[in-house]
Amino acid sequence: MKKNPQTVTFTINGENKTFITEPDEKLLALLRREGYKGAKFGCGQGTCGSCTVLMDGRAVYSCLLYAMQAEGREIRTIESIGSHDKPSEFQQELIDGGAVQCGYCIPGMIMSATALMENETHFDDETVREYMDGNLCRCTGYEKIWAALRRVLDRQEAAAKK
Ligand code: FES
Ligand code: FES
Repeated sequence: MKKNPQTVTFTINGENKTFITEPDEKLLALLRREGYKGAKFGCGQGTCGSCTVLMDGRAVYSCLLYAMQAEGREIRTIESIGSHDKPSEFQQELIDGGAVQCGYCIPGMIMSATALMENETHFDDETVREYMDGNLCRCTGYEKIWAALRRVLDRQEAAAKK
């Protein structure tokens, strides 16, 4: 039962929507109960990155933000990236490279990589680490995930030089 219902309005994956929430409800909880289940609850305290979504183009931990803090913002979740029939370039590389084990960390990894690709034009290893080091993989599949991302970034850099 709602104790102190409030409304919050924000853009979610390109659609402007209003939701009923509570002042103490986290953004991750709201997203998941509204059907955006790609963002995962891992640690719930800002250390694993499985709940990563984009807020105004920046990767954020949705387990730490209150839903009310999304008011007027643009939120993007993994549901906005690729599809089963048409995966994004990074998703395809993850598949082709056998980089997905249990998959729990992958939506968060993809959202951080999306922020990287949209906000940067040069992808040296230090920059890539800066964007990706907030995402942990408990299956420890880092090497294949990194290699898949590196292939995408190398192609993007090469294309930009043409
Ligand atoms: S669930 Fe948000 S950082 Fe771990
Ligand atoms: S693939 Fe299992 S947590 Fe990363």
